[in-house]
Amino acid sequence: MVIFNMEYPSGLRSLSLLFLAGAASASVLHPRDPVPDGYVAAPYYPTPYGGWSDDWSASYEKAIKLVSQMTVAEKVNITAGTGLYMGRCVGNTGSVPRLGLPQLCLQDGPLGVRTTDNITAFPAGITTGATFNKDLIYQRGVAIGEEFRGKGANFYLGPCVGPLGRKPRGGRNWEGFGVDPVLQAIAGAETIRGVQDQGVIATIKHLIGNEQELYRMYNPVQQAYSSNIDDRAIHELYLWPFAEGVKAGVGSVMASYNAINGSAASQNSYILNGLLKDELGFQGLVMTDWLAQISGVGSALAGLDMSMPGDTVGNNIPLDGYSNWQYELTRSVLNGSVPVDRLNDMATRIVATWYQLGQDKDYPPPNFSSNTADPTGPLYPGAVFSPVGVVNEYVNVQGDHKVVAKQVAQEAVTLLKNNGSFLPLSTSSPLFVFGTDAQADPEGINSCTDKTCNRGLLGMGWGSGSANYPYLDDPISSLKRKVANVTYFATDSFPTVPTPTEDDVAIVFINSDSGENSYTVENNHGDRDSDGLKAWHNGDELVQKAAEKYSNVLVIYHTVGPVVVEPWIDLPSVKGVLIAHLPGQEAGDSLTEIIFGEVSPSGHLPYSIPVSEDDYPKSLSLVSTPLSQTQDTYSEGLYIDYRYLNKNNIKPRYAFGHGLSYANFSFSNAKITRVTPLTETPPARPSKPESPIASLNTTIPAASEAYYPEGFDRIWRYLYSWLPNAEADTAYAIGAAGDKKYPYPEGYSSEQKPGPAAGGPSGGNPALWDVAYTISLTVINTAKQDTTPGKALAQAYVQFPEGISYDTPVIQLRDFAKTGDALKPGESAQLELSFARKDLSVWDTTRQNWVVPDPEGKYKIWVGSASDDLPVVCYSDTLVCEEGVTGPI
Ligand code: BGC
Repeated sequence: MVIFNMEYPSGLRSLSLLFLAGAASASVLHPRDPVPDGYVAAPYYPTPYGGWSDDWSASYEKAIKLVSQMTVAEKVNITAGTGLYMGRCVGNTGSVPRLGLPQLCLQDGPLGVRTTDNITAFPAGITTGATFNKDLIYQRGVAIGEEFRGKGANFYLGPCVGPLGRKPRGGRNWEGFGVDPVLQAIAGAETIRGVQDQGVIATIKHLIGNEQELYRMYNPVQQAYSSNIDDRAIHELYLWPFAEGVKAGVGSVMASYNAINGSAASQNSYILNGLLKDELGFQGLVMTDWLAQISGVGSALAGLDMSMPGDTVGNNIPLDGYSNWQYELTRSVLNGSVPVDRLNDMATRIVATWYQLGQDKDYPPPNFSSNTADPTGPLYPGAVFSPVGVVNEYVNVQGDHKVVAKQVAQEAVTLLKNNGSFLPLSTSSPLFVFGTDAQADPEGINSCTDKTCNRGLLGMGWGSGSANYPYLDDPISSLKRKVANVTYFATDSFPTVPTPTEDDVAIVFINSDSGENSYTVENNHGDRDSDGLKAWHNGDELVQKAAEKYSNVLVIYHTVGPVVVEPWIDLPSVKGVLIAHLPGQEAGDSLTEIIFGEVSPSGHLPYSIPVSEDDYPKSLSLVSTPLSQTQDTYSEGLYIDYRYLNKNNIKPRYAFGHGLSYANFSFSNAKITRVTPLTETPPARPSKPESPIASLNTTIPAASEAYYPEGFDRIWRYLYSWLPNAEADTAYAIGAAGDKKYPYPEGYSSEQKPGPAAGGPSGGNPALWDVAYTISLTVINTAKQDTTPGKALAQAYVQFPEGISYDTPVIQLRDFAKTGDALKPGESAQLELSFARKDLSVWDTTRQNWVVPDPEGKYKIWVGSASDDLPVVCYSDTLVCEEGVTGPI
């Protein structure tokens, strides 16, 4: 066996592919391992047609008109990419120029337009989640959408809500918004709205179970891991943000790399046909993750609509001109393996999404290249011989987005600890600053492709979720602008320092990084497998040493997720700690304005900070069995993060939602209102109207529809949907003879179903979103005059009635509201919270429905400023609220 490290043209990511030398077609060495009992991906066929939801019907009507004129090769051409590096964007679909349908450009990533220039590097998802500010999250989405549109990208490959963050060491948790389904759902939906209001198709990803990076991908010798998740945890945790995304109208969904309950995500009929397209009633398109498609017909039948970037990887390597779809899908339709109605549905879903976002009107084509920064270059760098042309037009799309980027970075800053009135600092204190994380990477802010080094300030993690910085406002420059007396030691080893005076303040910058498995950074393979929850570069020791020397120490932590702060948190001189998350380009003033009290911190932890990693169960650790298919079994069920800690009475160091302010908030006047009376199960779903897909012709098309156009000049290795005439004729003959050889999966059926009871258009049974209760309350800033004004946050957690027959977590976040403005001392504001039927339901695995366990029972809705600081409680039965109470944990 040999390892090939394939380097692609400059600026492209390198792929490490492991395959058998000399084997014409390597086969999988390790067959699938059995999935543990009880974890099932039951067959679900056929793919429900799209086009039956009212809010999509106008787009489907137009799409049907267009698709009905397409040849088989044209329909197929839009369902897959033209190959890795075969276009300007990270994914490029085929086009139908005859009917005015352009190639569509798909581009990463969640925090900004990846691998290009003149953009904004926004704060990461985890930072955005820490703001708990719905309006601001929407505004960030608007700005991101404007930039994707400005660059001519049709798809925004975000938001990322899976991983949910189940594993504290998980490499990509930072791309999402925090370890709670409701936080992910609200932030994801606001992002989708913001982006899509600009006409860009958002892509919520990765569906589902991509909770670790190690062994996430199928490759020729290794099966990706199987995430084994029970039905209830799927519904109540992992699918929840996707349901809200569908409800928000998301145009596209990306399947994950891994398997779920033993079946690969891109061909998992239970997940794609069953949960996504029938239960959630999703009307848009589902794409693979990059190179995740491992079968052609199987994935089509299981509900996949788009293969990205188009190449195969299961049996071959990318860039060799092979595809599971394109010409192969054409063949499979002609020979009768893939039913024509499935292809009609795939193509119509894609075209309808394009219309739904208004991209048929004045949508700009891509004006950038994610392959090179040069103005001209190969148009298809993946081809050996490519025509050359203009690839970068350097369009500046930044507008004034730095304002919203800074606002997010700032509102996320989370004050963990503030002894007495240590913070805010005075600008007259002499400052001694330690740690390389305070400064921009001295070798250049974009010196490492996709941020694959942790050098200097950590503003984002690494991998496809990163973007180039246009500039970086680093904290040290900002500190120097504000304070006359700053001494900076750009080192992570504690240096020799002058003997401190009592006034001296030490600020220590440390960080913790992670990213995508396609790269290894300082021995961390995406996940934090090597560094764990410790600070990188001996950061914990740097803090300890500074605390030995100085009596006033402020720690600034830039981090991808939870970190353990025990080595120094109780040291008497560590007087202040701020988690600045991953701030993106606006890392400087956003932070220092808080340090010096121009603005009060208002960020809250989007995860718990445990005392020790061992406080979590073993199932939340990384798993690895390299010689077989790794089984990642979610035996903890619903109990992750604070849900687990609360159930087991384990006190974290800082609880989920924790975040201090310079202001002081007090809640009063709480009122609960019953809006829609609850019943045990929701009112019946509306029935599914017939889909217009049924009106399209389902006869196997003529072979000539698949022929290469005469005299067509092919680019070697580019993926086309046409077939050589003889191959098309042979396939057609098989189809015409009704002689299909394809072994249809167990449970296969071609009969459209009425849809499950819990299902409905756009997210599920609409009654699940009936508002059951609202709570309004007043928050007042009781801080003494002259303290910095601050924004207040109310978090609302539901506790299910006692005595019900379902095991439920002690409390679960269900809504939150932040004041629009910072409140001055003495000022107050009204906050509104709302609770839908779904928020008060459990997923009943036997009834296969959302059930309110005790509609007359006493739900307790706790409100406060952190999961362990909930001084207000309202009761659903008596409609009474109490204030000044001790919370449930
Ligand atoms: C990542 C996706 C990303 C895609 C395209 C994959 O490796 O998992 O999140 O959108 O690459 O770059």
